[in-house]
Amino acid sequence: MHYYSITTVRKTGIFLGVKKTERSKLLDKLKEFYTLETFQVQYYKAQLSETKNEYYRTAFERMVQIESGHADYFAGRLIAENEDVPVITGSVFKMAGRILGEAVELAGPASACKLGVALENKAIDKYREFIIKKWGDEELRSTLMQYLLDEEFHMLWMKKHAETIGR
Ligand SMILES: [Fe+2]
Ligand SMILES: [Fe+2]
Repeated sequence: MHYYSITTVRKTGIFLGVKKTERSKLLDKLKEFYTLETFQVQYYKAQLSETKNEYYRTAFERMVQIESGHADYFAGRLIAENEDVPVITGSVFKMAGRILGEAVELAGPASACKLGVALENKAIDKYREFIIKKWGDEELRSTLMQYLLDEEFHMLWMKKHAETIGR
């Protein structure tokens, strides 16, 4: 059996227990998660101007809060590693298209929810994939498991809501 030697990158650092060779891959992951979360913040914020419905708006305001917390966490971890936080440019829909790999057109709350579901599923897949691979950073792993569940809650709410309002 082969045992890897675990190199501690920084004694007080955030990547305690992570192999040195994995560090840059891990930083790329943090950047990817940051980008995805920032996009979700922008996307859900954009939905707030689409309707005056109080229930719908409150749901999206809550999601903006939660996704902002997620994005801030990744930004904080990148800053702690002296890494640049990605700068996100481009319109919300171009970004959606890029993330989902297809052209995106939106009309109405039901399709907004459906695209939201697709975005959440993307995040869910990425978090699951991350959690399954043992990176060694247990704090990061358990935080991402919480985020995974947040995304699952969002996804299920939007799925249900889209069904309820139809169209
Ligand atoms: Fe999120
Ligand atoms: Fe979410």
